[in-house]
Amino acid sequence: MNVAVAKENPAPSANKGLKGVVAADSAICEIDGALGELWYRGYSIHDLARHSTFEEVCYLLFKGELPTPRELADFSQTLTQHRRLTPQVSAFIKGLPREVLPMAALRSAISVAGIYDPLAEDSRPEANFEKSIELVGLMATVVAAIHRCRQGLEPLEPLDRLGHAANFMYLLNGREPTADEARAMDLILILHAEHGFNASTFAARVIGATLSDLYSVASGAIGALKGPLHGGANTEVIRALQEIGEVANVEAYVEAVRERKGKFMGFGHAVYQVEDPRARHLKELSRRLGQEQGEPRWYDISIKLEALVNQTIHKYCNVDFYSASLQHYMGIPGELFTCIFATSRIAGWCAHVLEQWQDNKIIRPSCNYVGSPARPYVSLDMR
Ligand SMILES: CC(C)(COP(=O)(O)OP(=O)(O)OC[C@H]1O[C@@H](n2cnc3c(N)ncnc32)[C@H](O)[C@@H]1OP(=O)(O)O)[C@@H](O)C(=O)NCCC(=O)NCCS
Repeated sequence: MNVAVAKENPAPSANKGLKGVVAADSAICEIDGALGELWYRGYSIHDLARHSTFEEVCYLLFKGELPTPRELADFSQTLTQHRRLTPQVSAFIKGLPREVLPMAALRSAISVAGIYDPLAEDSRPEANFEKSIELVGLMATVVAAIHRCRQGLEPLEPLDRLGHAANFMYLLNGREPTADEARAMDLILILHAEHGFNASTFAARVIGATLSDLYSVASGAIGALKGPLHGGANTEVIRALQEIGEVANVEAYVEAVRERKGKFMGFGHAVYQVEDPRARHLKELSRRLGQEQGEPRWYDISIKLEALVNQTIHKYCNVDFYSASLQHYMGIPGELFTCIFATSRIAGWCAHVLEQWQDNKIIRPSCNYVGSPARPYVSLDMR
């Protein structure tokens, strides 16, 4: 270590959290944080939410263009072929203790799937494209199997005639969903599929850039998504809503969080300075389901909490806020919410790593050393 050189050429100060640092060029997703707009490959999230399907969005993210009817049919067929669990993955999930957190189970099950995939280490672009579709198909089946085993139930065989979202709902609940239920899941999957250089996608690109394999990418990204400051926030939101319990308790809850200098989960965003554009669609669906089920309480608490948090700390809700009450209305338990997020975001992770590999460079930033200056080693008996 040469202190004199370090002083002559002071390192730039660290950018904690890398906020605002541009780490790559990407053609996948554009976000306007000031206006609250989001586009996948140039298509507005609002148009995709209204008119598209998750299968179509996956194709768009992977290939850069919306599919023709023929391309979509081929893509959906490949996806359907990759929905089944291998016996090893099935046995692994069945052998897990019931109390294992679903996200921990998912992270490990995807890792196990990689061990038994003969294509896992095949790095040809066509093999990586095939594995990306395979991972999209597999994630839904794995999440549903984890959910059923936690309830002491047998995992179900996928139904080939159902689309991705409808089949996922069937695998979770053991009954075919209504068209409305399947559309609600499709919407959740579309809205969560991609969001630029968020923490888990950046983690995915870092892993991919070492030329590791897609299963390692997916397992690492699941680990990053699991944290409560990222995808884990939706589970925390439903906990908060349940803790509040009644609309009349919202004010006291807000006061209590402010007093202990806590965080309002589902609020704030590293990029959006206004409402997250995805929240609008989830909010509307949550309102509708609450009304249809004659249980508007969770939606009503959310509305009041949103207003008060806006008013008091000027933070807007993000994608995780209304996805919590919505998924609760859909009968999905809170501990599974982040797995549902992962079932969708696998599309964005794979799209980014496929893009990374088109013009790869290992991602290796630096840090400022702020520790002890150079010093002589002291042997154990002298310490
Ligand atoms: C998403 C999040 C991590 C972004 O963090 P960020 O980029 O540092 O956000 P900001 O620069 O606006 O934060 C500045 C300060 O505002 C406050 N703040 C931000 N979000 C807040 C929230 N939800 N509740 C209370 N205070 C909040 C904090 O004091 C924060 O300082 P800190 O980083 O020391 O905690 C942050 O808003 C957060 O923790 N939100 C809650 C978790 C969540 O919903 N995550 C899902 C994101 S999609």
